[in-house]
Amino acid sequence: MKREHTLRFTATFQIRDALGRARRISRYAWPVGGSRTVSAAASAGDFSGPASCTSLPGMHVALAGGHGQIALQLTRRLVDRGDTVLSLIRNPGQAEDVSAAGANPVICDLERADVREVAAAIAGAEAVVFAAGAGPGSGAERKLTMDRDGAITVLAAAASAGAPRFVIVSAVGAENPSDGDDVFSVYLRAKAQADAAVQASDRDWTIVRPGRLTDEPGTGRVRIAVEPFRGAIPRADVAAVLELVLGEPRAAGSVLYVNGGEDPIRQALDGALA
Ligand SMILES: NC(=O)c1ccc[n+]([C@@H]2O[C@H](COP(=O)([O-])OP(=O)(O)OC[C@H]3O[C@@H](n4cnc5c(N)ncnc54)[C@H](OP(=O)(O)O)[C@@H]3O)[C@@H](O)[C@H]2O)c1
Repeated sequence: MKREHTLRFTATFQIRDALGRARRISRYAWPVGGSRTVSAAASAGDFSGPASCTSLPGMHVALAGGHGQIALQLTRRLVDRGDTVLSLIRNPGQAEDVSAAGANPVICDLERADVREVAAAIAGAEAVVFAAGAGPGSGAERKLTMDRDGAITVLAAAASAGAPRFVIVSAVGAENPSDGDDVFSVYLRAKAQADAAVQASDRDWTIVRPGRLTDEPGTGRVRIAVEPFRGAIPRADVAAVLELVLGEPRAAGSVLYVNGGEDPIRQALDGALA
């Protein structure tokens, strides 16, 4: 009889987090590309499940830019639903906030670390979310070192670490950036170049391009489309979209434009992916 078992093989390690506390974490013993479905008929004999392997509930997510405004809200959502979150931050002073949101903070400056270091930091992740950014106060140079090169480093690290899923927060306008020298044009070109690398990668990628971000409370109602459109959206709603996108296999290979709208998020996502 053919039976299918979804298995997640884990090993438990002890690490020290950014606050110096000892933590036991479960890590995938090898990069499995998410959960692995094994056909008992195809494996040896009558499969009843090895007693030494433990099922890990939820997804193991690595979050680049973990103290960001979207990232912290996403962290709380993921932790609430049972995922484990490892947050890459560059400032140790932010570790406490990240821990309070439920993530394991790891100090990693994405403009200084190389691919090997980032890959080691995110080893075992099933999904990587890039939600970092140089921020509004930064100049053109950091758009290149952070928004472009930092994203490309994290993407390469995701591939090196065998994390199958990669979701990046980009921006509307990256689909057609102008060639001006002003900081905003440099920013959009940096986003476009990072996105192009993502699209050329062999990860199960999704690019999320919101319009203007606001700090208004989330409404739970958005518009999502595969064609560009302008608008504004609370960061809280972007976090909610990312939560759904992460677990949505149909979103792999899609560029999604996201703004405030009329539809509940699930419905808006289903409509965009139909
Ligand atoms: N603002 C908008 O209207 C808008 C519109 C569309 C898309 N976006 C994009 O949306 C994304 C998230 O937005 P947000 O408002 O949540 O961002 P945010 O609050 O500015 O967070 C960005 C995070 O990236 C971190 N970061 C910067 N440089 C780093 C480095 N070298 N190494 C590690 N982390 C670093 C920052 O940490 P530090 O505190 O250490 O700097 C910060 O926690 C960004 O990619 C942004 O470009 C923004």
